[in-house]
Amino acid sequence: MDVSTQSGSIQALEADAIVVNLFQDVTQPGGATGAVDKVLDGAIQDLIANGAIRGKLNETSIIYPRETIPARRVIVVGLGPEEEFDLDAVRQAAAAAARAARGAGARTLASIVHGGGRGGLLLADAAQAVVEGTILGLYRYNPPGVTPREEFERQVDSLTLVEFDASKLPEVEAGAEVGRAVAEGTCLARDLANQPANVMTPTTLAVTAERISADYGMAVQVFDREHMAELEMGALLSVARGANEPPKFIVLEHNPTGSNAPPFVLAGKGITFDSGGISLKPSQGMEQMRGDMAGAAGVLGVMQAIGLINLPKRVVALVPATENMPSGTATHPGDVVTAMNGVTIEIINTDAEGRLILADALAYAQRYKPAAVVDVATLTGGMVTALGHYLTGVFANEDWLWEAIHAAGDVAGEPMWRMPLLPIYDRQVSTRFADVKNSAGRKASPVTAARFLAKFVEGYPWAHVDIAGTSWWERDLNYPSKPYFVRGNTGVVVRTFVGVLRAWNPA
Ligand code: BES
Ligand code: MN
Ligand code: ZN
Repeated sequence: MDVSTQSGSIQALEADAIVVNLFQDVTQPGGATGAVDKVLDGAIQDLIANGAIRGKLNETSIIYPRETIPARRVIVVGLGPEEEFDLDAVRQAAAAAARAARGAGARTLASIVHGGGRGGLLLADAAQAVVEGTILGLYRYNPPGVTPREEFERQVDSLTLVEFDASKLPEVEAGAEVGRAVAEGTCLARDLANQPANVMTPTTLAVTAERISADYGMAVQVFDREHMAELEMGALLSVARGANEPPKFIVLEHNPTGSNAPPFVLAGKGITFDSGGISLKPSQGMEQMRGDMAGAAGVLGVMQAIGLINLPKRVVALVPATENMPSGTATHPGDVVTAMNGVTIEIINTDAEGRLILADALAYAQRYKPAAVVDVATLTGGMVTALGHYLTGVFANEDWLWEAIHAAGDVAGEPMWRMPLLPIYDRQVSTRFADVKNSAGRKASPVTAARFLAKFVEGYPWAHVDIAGTSWWERDLNYPSKPYFVRGNTGVVVRTFVGVLRAWNPA
């Protein structure tokens, strides 16, 4: 989508639709909405008086101005109660307005910056949220090889943010640029994770990383099975053993200043299909396990976004990628394997594979002497049981890292919840046959999975983000919907981690 900014009065703009707003229960619109109302001869006030416009969050009303102004449609979007207003209300309202515009056949859209300068919101942040909401709300997944539905012909292809005061335009521009990058990174993550496993293979993830590397001048390395063996990544290889599809270990480094400072490392679980392996999953719902690389997708989405804004910091993405399949060469339950850091693992359940591939990624991360390592994974069904599809569970070994993720998640509209990482749970992953075992049964399974991962973390701040519940959204889940949600993968963590990285102060 083409995103631009302009100063002046929105009612002077030529566009298929212009968007203004209204807080709940306001009867006399002011600002840009008031100015538009005036040129429309009080049409907005009439609709308010009639009770047709109430200003409820995400309520949209379309007015056809019939040549009184150059725009062909005016959309009034509700912002909800002023006292509850925040950045996510901006994001949601922008998405609702964009969808209303698309539904009405508009291709070009101009919007004021909802809440710019209000309620303590910075204008740049509000502009960012408007762009995020617009692009994410308009996102549609086009399945490869499938003729798009007829309604897909309707799409908004440009957004102009309008700021009355020309002196404030640079703030709007800066916010819009970040918003576009974050939204495009999120859409990339959604696209990657929505694709079926016969298309979205470890090789496809590697090709995507190579494309990002070429577009933004990042260094990329892709290790094959032989290279993994040289590195002694025995845990990752034990998962890849059953698969014919070649596994890949992807290293993508963004370092525009050529810094030697400790990097921020992101590691994403890249299981492109999780059948469970020899510990085979039930067939009911197994097709959803094409999304078991949502962590990898999120991490690549973050890299795309920081490439677009050329973030001047050193960030490394690690993506261990493989299928988890049963076969004559697959790992047996009871096998003992050795991870890259020398820790031995008894594999009780081949379906607890995510922690195995992350074990080698966490051990590999040590070579960077990183400032922090965050892994992102659809790791446990128990996380879905515990927190459903609303909150993302975060485990962290240092408070500052949890606080950074929590704060950025709140701003991004991706709520995070801290989970316990107590060593007392180590008993559940202990075994007579190895240093650790990969499965501890159903009790506290998100916690024992995190304690397993902790065995491969040495000497760096670390967080583990379990997105098993929040990486997927559909209406039937019965969670309050948001207008920027689309059925399928959510692209969760991209907005949060771009926020974390922008706020991070490297040593
Ligand atoms: N990929 C699954 C976890 C998952 C389940 C993600 C549902 C999204 C939705 C993971 O590899 C897995 O199978 N975990 C098992 C571990 C168990 C065998 C210890 C689980 O949580 O049931
Ligand atoms: Mn599994
Ligand atoms: Zn899995």
